[in-house]
Formats: sequence, C-alpha cells, structure tokens
Amino acid sequence: MKNYITPNFKFADMIPIKAQGNTVWDENNKDYIDLLGGIAVNALGHCHPELIKTLHEQADKLWHISNTFTTTTSQALAERLVKNTFAEKVFFANSGAEVNEAALKLARKYAYDHFGPKKNKIISCYNSFHGRTLFTATVGGQEKYQTGFGPLPPAIYYTEFNNTEALKDILDDETCAFIVEPIQGESGVLPAHLEFLKTARELCNKHEIALILDEIQTGMGRTGSLFAYQQYQITPDILTSAKALGCGLPIGAMLTTDQFAEAFTPGSHGTTFGGNPLVCAVANTAFDIINSEETLSNVKKQHEYFESELNQIAAETGKFKLIRGKGLLIGCVLADEFEGKANQVVSEALKAGVIVNQAGPNVVRLAPSLIINDEDRQKGLNRLKRALDQWIPQ
Ligand SMILES: Cc1ncc(COP(=O)(O)O)c(C=O)c1O
Repeated sequence: MKNYITPNFKFADMIPIKAQGNTVWDENNKDYIDLLGGIAVNALGHCHPELIKTLHEQADKLWHISNTFTTTTSQALAERLVKNTFAEKVFFANSGAEVNEAALKLARKYAYDHFGPKKNKIISCYNSFHGRTLFTATVGGQEKYQTGFGPLPPAIYYTEFNNTEALKDILDDETCAFIVEPIQGESGVLPAHLEFLKTARELCNKHEIALILDEIQTGMGRTGSLFAYQQYQITPDILTSAKALGCGLPIGAMLTTDQFAEAFTPGSHGTTFGGNPLVCAVANTAFDIINSEETLSNVKKQHEYFESELNQIAAETGKFKLIRGKGLLIGCVLADEFEGKANQVVSEALKAGVIVNQAGPNVVRLAPSLIINDEDRQKGLNRLKRALDQWIPQ
C-alpha cells in the first residue's frame, strides 16, 4: 500500500482491518491477540457493546456544539471525575498533550496571579514523557523529542526520577510547577517510589508549587485504582488524564481544585472540540464500567497472573531479566545480553500473532484491556513465549 502519511511514523507491516474484544484481524484475516490495547487506550477492549450502544444513541442526538454552550454529557463526565477524585473542576481537550499543555499553562497563570512573573520555573524528570507539542515535548525530559525543534520554550529544568535529594535541591520559590508521571510509561514502565512522591508533595507545599501528576497512561483504572495517585497517599493540585478516558475516542481531561481553576478566567484558555457531546457520552459509559469493583478487581487479579506467567517465560527463555509495573501496565525488561533490542521482540511477537510494543530500547510493554480474561491472556502469552523462542537476535 502506498503511504501518504508523513514519515514521522514507523508503521508495522501488518494493517489491522477489524477488531473485537482482545482480538485484531489483518487484511489476510490473520488474528492477533492485543496485549497493548492501543497503548493503554482500549481499556475495555475493541468494540465493547455498551460503548457502541452509547455512541449510536448520542450520534442521533448531538455531536458538536460550540463551547459557547455547556452540555449535559460533558457536565456528567466532569461530575464523575470530581466525585471520584480530589478534583473540584475539570477542563476537557482532545489529547494527552493538550491537557498537559493546559496544566502547565494553568500552573504558570496561577503563579503569575498570586506571586508575580518571577515564579515561572517548571521542573520535570529526565526520561519523562508529556506529549509532542513544543511546550510538552520540552517539558518531557528526553532530548530525542526536542532536537531540531528549537528554540524551545524557556524556564524548564529537569531532575532525576526517584531521586529525593535532587528534588530537594531543585524545587524552590521560583518554581511554579513540578510535573511527574506516577509510573514513567514511555521510558520503560518505571514506577515512582512512594518516598519520592511524598517528598514532592511536601516540597510543593513548602514552596507553593503546583504538583501536576501526569496520569495519561496510568489513569482510568490502569493500575488497579481509578488513578494511580490513590495508591500513593498524596493528592496533586492538577492531574491529567487521556488515553483510556475515551476508550479510543479522542479526549483528555485536566482535573484541578477550585483554587487553581480560578486562574483560568473566561477566554484565557480554550479548545474547539474539547468536551464534545459525542465523545463525552461514550466516556461516561466507559467511566462507569472502568470504575466498578468488577473491572478494578480484574485488573489486580490479572496483574498477578501476568506477573507470574511472565516471570515463568523469563525463566524459561532467559530473554527477560525483570517484570515490573502496576496493574495492567507491565514492562518486561530485556536481559543484559539483549539490551537495545526490544523493537526486535515486538516485530517477532507480531509475526507470532500478539501485539505488544517497546517502551524505551530495553523494555517490552504490555497494556491490555482492563477486562481481559484468562483465555485471551494465556493465548497472548503463549504466542509471546513462542516469539521469544523463535527470535534470533540481530
Ligand atoms: C504519560 C503521558 N503523557 C502524555 C502523553 C501524550 O498524550 P497524547 O499522545 O494523547 O498527546 C502520553 C502518551 O503516550 C503519555 O504516556
């Protein structure tokens, strides 16, 4: 097939045509077990009947109406997010990067309103990932997403993830925001230590800094609680969610307190599509299914199975040295001799009929549907094991 898309993507050889539950089919009707869920997006698998029902019902009612109006669907989604978290207000946009952009702008504006223009420094972690707009790519501490795009926005600095002492040195009275992922997803599924996030909260209180948690990958049930912070004994000032929030329809949400929200005065920030009725209707249905005892306990139960079966695969094949992550965000770290070859495992897995991806050069990432069952898990992992057995490292 001729490729008309800009070359910033490296597409796999297989072209998906349809999907149902945890199975994807290609043009030749070959099936694949999806253990990646659109990179932590398809939290309820593919073509969930209740999401389809809501989509059809809402399609007959109202798709889009400008942000001159509020809608019942966006208010209902905001209410769900507020009632189940620390938040008091919600801003909707269409993607993760956009809500991170909003979060960073809000933190700057809040600091400007309360403390003046000097309090403008943003601190993030090396190897973090916060999106691809110029602002969020600069805040993400990875040079590879920044090189060639300069000049970059100023007043952005980096600290080492999970290094509590370094954090104490860098956060100060001129800092307006510290942004961090509870689990660094893109750079290898690395969970934050409890002590690191607790210290971050204390220092943010001390220096009046907005603590922003980027839960774009970890949120919406992925780690076994609605948001990962709920397992960390801390509360952020701002939290961002996207990916699984719309289960495949584009939506992002920035959650915050009334105190911070006030800085977004009318007209100071906005979006055309954000919070549109069609996407919000589906997100409401998705929210109720995800935020249920049944789904969240499945995440915890399946985590145990994945962990033990992947550890067994690691022992039998010698290809993985460590299995890490929380809930259904799992990283398989390659053994030292296979360092830098995660992309080869991903291609081999696809050939064997299972979809996974790489999170950094050394880690194979799994982020399956939160409602995955034993049968599909076992089928997927058997295929992954076969791929590892057949793999001839290049
Ligand atoms: C932690 C995190 N933040 C931000 C983003 C960017 O989200 P989007 O691609 O929807 O803009 C991602 C996407 O992978 C992410 O994992």
